[in-house]
Parts: sequence; C-alpha cells; structure tokens
Amino acid sequence: MARKKIIAGNWKMYKTIAEAKAFAETFKKKYQPSDVRVAICAPYLQLPVLVEAFRGTGIGVGAQNVHYEAEGAFTGEISIPMLEEIGVDYCIVGHSERRQYFNESDDTVNRKVKALLKTSIIPIVCVGEDLQQKEAGYEKQLVSEQVKNALHDIPADKAELIVIAYEPIWAIGTGRTATPIQANMMCELIRDTLTEMYGDETADRMVIQYGGSVKPENASEIMNMEEIDGALVGGASLEPLKFHEIVNF
Ligand code: 13P
Repeated sequence: MARKKIIAGNWKMYKTIAEAKAFAETFKKKYQPSDVRVAICAPYLQLPVLVEAFRGTGIGVGAQNVHYEAEGAFTGEISIPMLEEIGVDYCIVGHSERRQYFNESDDTVNRKVKALLKTSIIPIVCVGEDLQQKEAGYEKQLVSEQVKNALHDIPADKAELIVIAYEPIWAIGTGRTATPIQANMMCELIRDTLTEMYGDETADRMVIQYGGSVKPENASEIMNMEEIDGALVGGASLEPLKFHEIVNF
C-alpha cells in the first residue's frame, strides 16, 4: 500500500528567530508541494515564526520535545496545550540526544506519545542503537524493544497515526550513514515488530523514517528503499537549499 512519505528537518539547538525567518523566506520560495509531506522541527521560540511564515504553503512545523502533563510545576518545560495554541503539526519524541543527555526513558516516551495522541499533533518517535550495541549484535532486539515500549498500551487506530524514525546513533552527525540496505533492513524489522503488535494492515499503514547523515547526495537512494517512508534530517536541514534538494530527492 502507498504510504505518504514524510521528510522532516530537525534543527536541534540551532538558529535564532531571525535566522529561522530567513530560512523560511528562502525555503518557501523554492518549495513546490508534492505528495511528500515536509516539515521543520525547530526550537520552541522559533515555532510561532515558522507557523506564520509557512501558513498556506503546506509545509508543516514540529517541536522537538514536550512534557506529558497538560500543566504543572515543571520548571523549564513546555506542555502539549501550549504547542496546540501555536498550531504545530508534529512533535519529535525520544530523540537519542534526549535519551542520552536528558534522561528520556522508554516510559516517558510512552507517556508523551499517549498524551500527543489525544490531540492532532503527530508524534515522531525516535528509536535506534549506539555503536557499542550494534557491535555487540544487539541492535535488532534493542530497537524492537524500544518500539514496543514507546507504543505500549496504544491501540491500533491511534498507533497508525504515529511516525517512527529509525536513527542509528552511530550515524547521527558523524557523516557515517547506514547503507540504504542496512537502513531498509532495520525499518523492515520495525515493521515486523508493528505487525506482531497490531497485525499486517496497521503495520502496513505506518510511516517509518530513516535519520542519520541524510544529505542531498544520498537522499534519493535512501528514500527509494521499499521500507523507508521518509527521512529525519539534522545538519542538512539547516541550509534551505540543501534541504530543498533533499525534499526533491
Ligand atoms: P544528522 O542528519 O545531522 O546526522 O542528524 C540526524 C538526526 O539526529 C535527526 O534527528
């Protein structure tokens, strides 16, 4: 079945508001809507600017994290109602940098995904192994467990809205990309896990992205793999012309 592909930029902690505006102006002039969904996941402060700049263009906007409680005494956190008020379309959950540096656990990932699924904001759930886990031959079991834990207790009709991003940590920001065959194999493993959880039909409908050193030079090969339905792009999404080339793979 034809799944709608999605290419999202993850700016991480890059770009001021002025820089975000400049990016949006350049990118939207070049952008031609197609059947590939496109979004930019930016730091919180830049989200209203991007929502405004991309209004009516079809380009989506996403956050990079969120708290699972609607409000409360959680200094420094941002809630889902706050994101809804701005009008964001997506929210990355469980990026490896959040798991590694901010103690994000499978349990908090699961809570965040469940809370987002009560709204129209689409969760982009990141999974992926580090180099040590890969060298120990443990990557398949780990990634499969991460998927099961992230989607724990989520019914099929909700699960099918989720985007999963397979991002091997050893390929993030390193210039070292998983080969398209390796990436495809891991995305297939994720789909097998989803089949086990929800059956063929739901698993078939779910969008699985690859992330890790995606750039204009390798985008087309990656995007054309059978099991890969999109890309989550870090470094190369910071430059509007490079990101435009990737989107037009
Ligand atoms: P790079 O594209 O810079 O390797 O980053 C990938 C990533 O972490 C996207 O979320």
